[in-house]
Amino acid sequence: MDSRNGPEAPQESNVKSFFNSAPPLRDGDLICNKLKEFMDRISLSSENGSPVRVVCVTSGGTTVPLEQRCVRYIDNFSSGHRGAASTEYFVKAGYAVIFVYRRGSCQPYCRYLPQDSFLEFFDLTEDSTIQVYCILQVCQSHATMVKKAIRDYRKAVEEGLLLKIPFTTIFEYLQILQMVAKSMSWTATRGMFYLAAAVSDFYVPWESMAEHKIQSAAGPLDMRLTQVPKMLSVLRKEWAPSAFCISFKLETDPGILLQKADMAMRKYGMHVVVANELATYKEEVIIVTKGRRTAVRRHNKETDLEEQLVYLLDEMHYEYIKQGGA
Ligand code: PMT
Repeated sequence: MDSRNGPEAPQESNVKSFFNSAPPLRDGDLICNKLKEFMDRISLSSENGSPVRVVCVTSGGTTVPLEQRCVRYIDNFSSGHRGAASTEYFVKAGYAVIFVYRRGSCQPYCRYLPQDSFLEFFDLTEDSTIQVYCILQVCQSHATMVKKAIRDYRKAVEEGLLLKIPFTTIFEYLQILQMVAKSMSWTATRGMFYLAAAVSDFYVPWESMAEHKIQSAAGPLDMRLTQVPKMLSVLRKEWAPSAFCISFKLETDPGILLQKADMAMRKYGMHVVVANELATYKEEVIIVTKGRRTAVRRHNKETDLEEQLVYLLDEMHYEYIKQGGA
């Protein structure tokens, strides 16, 4: 039922109570200022004579804290690779990207830098003529890759095409998503949401969460998790009604994947749902649109599936803009 005509629909009141009870963002003002600066700059730029298109890419997994002074949390498997790789291809396609990412997850232009053997990338040359003088150099074997990554990254930042905003918890993620969506309202059909983050479906509401570390002396833990309200329809209907919206659907059971993707399209009004299966998500995704399914496969180990995916979505977005957001 419409809230203007009577009691609020359950989904609407769940969304309200999620935001009302979420701990406020610690650096909310800073994020707000960064977004404003970024948008002001973008609004003055153009791409082939037209205003620049803007995409919000979400990436990595949200955590669900179990204690207010958090010692333990529920997490998920997402590495952030898909969001980071896609960001690079969106920048290459001329988009300004707001990269909303999980702290510590994979970063654009750094995907090939190994995290566990980072120091193996460098050589240290000591100069004996000067007592304490060392030259730190990237190893020859990795120099080309690192130079390219630095150049591409600097270009994206200097051209004002990349803004990075980190999150950790589900509370931070959804508040940031709302802020970004509102700050993008002026982009109308030129705005895009590419929601690749793996978002928790269940959480502990802040007010019912233990303040201190949960004690094991109390015996087995019995905890009730509340459903995180799906924000996709709120995003589509209220926060960014003209933007081109792409959500992802992840399942482990191939038997229900496409059916669930179709349902997400209908239920949440998404323009595109990218369906992927846990066992094969690095090799294959299926782009689901109204009445059409297109498989995108990785050609080989040297290529990124995201390159083709972004290419196809870029074309669909152009068409959407041309048709006035129909
Ligand atoms: O990061 P990688 O390791 O590269 O992995 C990439 C990926 C597999 C995580 C990515 O391709 C992907 O599938 N992301 C979406 C995972 C997910 O949350 O799927 P879901 O079926 O649970 O949710 C579907 C959509 O609903 C998502 O776009 C999510 O943003 C949205 N959602 C989910 C829960 C919720 N409470 N509110 C939401 O809006």
